[in-house]
Amino acid sequence: MNNIFESKSPLIKHLVSNLRDKNLKGYNFRKYVREIAQLLLFEALKEEKLINKEIETWIGKGNFPFLDEENFVITTILRAGLPMLDGILEIFQNAPAGFLAIKRDEKTLESHVYYIRLPDLKGKTVIITDPMVATGGSLDSALNILKKENPKKIISLNIIGAPEGLKLISEKHPDVNVYIAQIDKKLNNNGYIIPGIGDAGDRAFNT
Ligand code: URA
Repeated sequence: MNNIFESKSPLIKHLVSNLRDKNLKGYNFRKYVREIAQLLLFEALKEEKLINKEIETWIGKGNFPFLDEENFVITTILRAGLPMLDGILEIFQNAPAGFLAIKRDEKTLESHVYYIRLPDLKGKTVIITDPMVATGGSLDSALNILKKENPKKIISLNIIGAPEGLKLISEKHPDVNVYIAQIDKKLNNNGYIIPGIGDAGDRAFNT
């Protein structure tokens, strides 16, 4: 699993453990998720190239290094990915965002894509946010859809994954770098991550 990068950051681990507390309500759950997404972005972009841009400073014009913001498109899987998307868009304020809605059949655990709304991805660095990589089915479907649009590169930001799902993603998408906060023990028979956090969408939106 050479393309799966699990965070070693104590701060990220601390925030993930906070998410596991079942008494944490939606507002604070979303806040921690936003913060984890931002910290994962920091890890994912450590090697990213900078471009020099001229700006006016208080002592006159000067060239300074910036990320090429126009190169990034942020995408997410509804609805659990929304707070992560929000966290990333707080940093890349002008980045276009794209949405995929994927539902998991709770019996067969198969993923069904029922809505796709993507900006132009051609030649772009696409960041996909999806908090839970359980069977890996939804992320696999999402990555297949994104790849059809010919992006330059795809980076996946995820919070908790099961070894089973991450193995699938690593085998099917060795070209996608996955930055994940925590790899948990296993999946249960219903496809939930153990110990995990339960249903991330329900937790985030108080349902
Ligand atoms: N989706 C979730 O939100 N949680 C899991 O544990 C698995 C899939």
